Amino acid sequence: MAKDLRLPPYPRGWYCVGFSDDFPRGSVTTKRLIGKELVLFRTEGGALSAVDPVCPHLGAHFGHGGTVTQETLRCPFHGFLFGTDGACVATGYGTKPPRVAARTWPIAEQNGIVLVWADPRGGPPSFQVPKLDMGDFSPFKRAVYRFRGHPQDTTENSVDIGHLTVVHGYERPRMLSELVVDGASLHATYEFHRPVGLWGRGLGGVTADFDAHVHGLGYSFVEARIGALGLTYRNFVLATPVGDMDLELRIAATVKRLEQSELRGPMKLVGLSKPLSKLVENLIHARGFQAFQNDVEQDFLIWKHKEYVARPALAAGDGPVMRYRRWAEQFYDDSPASAAVSAEP
Ligand code: FES
Ligand SMILES: [Fe+2]
Repeated sequence: MAKDLRLPPYPRGWYCVGFSDDFPRGSVTTKRLIGKELVLFRTEGGALSAVDPVCPHLGAHFGHGGTVTQETLRCPFHGFLFGTDGACVATGYGTKPPRVAARTWPIAEQNGIVLVWADPRGGPPSFQVPKLDMGDFSPFKRAVYRFRGHPQDTTENSVDIGHLTVVHGYERPRMLSELVVDGASLHATYEFHRPVGLWGRGLGGVTADFDAHVHGLGYSFVEARIGALGLTYRNFVLATPVGDMDLELRIAATVKRLEQSELRGPMKLVGLSKPLSKLVENLIHARGFQAFQNDVEQDFLIWKHKEYVARPALAAGDGPVMRYRRWAEQFYDDSPASAAVSAEP
């Protein structure tokens, strides 16, 4: 086996630092991303901004005692005010503010997810994560985990068809189309049978088809359709490198409103009555999230202890792992992986 090289710890990309309601108006929150701290503040008007924690005046940490004053962040040390663009707009003494700015991090808040652009070299965003139309979907159910891991490893699951049977117990997984790679995004579709259905084992499994959409290594979601019932879920997996091999993983799930869905089979009856449909929708959402959470947690044991094998010994049935890795190289400056990547078998 070839000597394996480590992946660089911080691929560039958009990473989730929380959900919108984690940052209420008037709040100041310190987060970690790519081994650094950043301070997020939400103004009274609702604008959200992320800045370096160190005040350019005399070095106080905004995250320890900083407050929001209308549309600005107020430093706890001398009361200087900073706008959402980082610019100093007032001193604490009513004197002319120095022409200085706190460094801001690019931020995008969409579909209730707060994303921050991270590039170890400080470059501007090289791609955007598209906004989704979520009007027909229920609010998220979500969870957050922290463990030893790397975003390239966790996101590789989207194309690792082989592990679906072994780790998750799915049956007959198969790719429905070729992997589509387009700049920083990647799209894969596959189908499988889940022997444990929505209502538990023994009550019939479900066949689902998956549309996996990946944008960089920190943001992906799967649109899962259960054709026989006419249900559609959207499951997000958001991997955030807070430190070197120190990962925060957020998951969020939503289900398409039943009245917007093309219900089939027994679900058709449910669609007839509005109160019943609401009740069943909540149940379906809860069960779907439980199944999703269970699937993700099944991966933990592997993720926490796995090593990056740059020259994997691949076999038929693996899925397009090497195509994924070649695509992922774009998020690094000098990837040792790129030298080691060999042709797909
Ligand atoms: S250190 Fe921030 S205002 Fe002085
Ligand atoms: Fe998995």
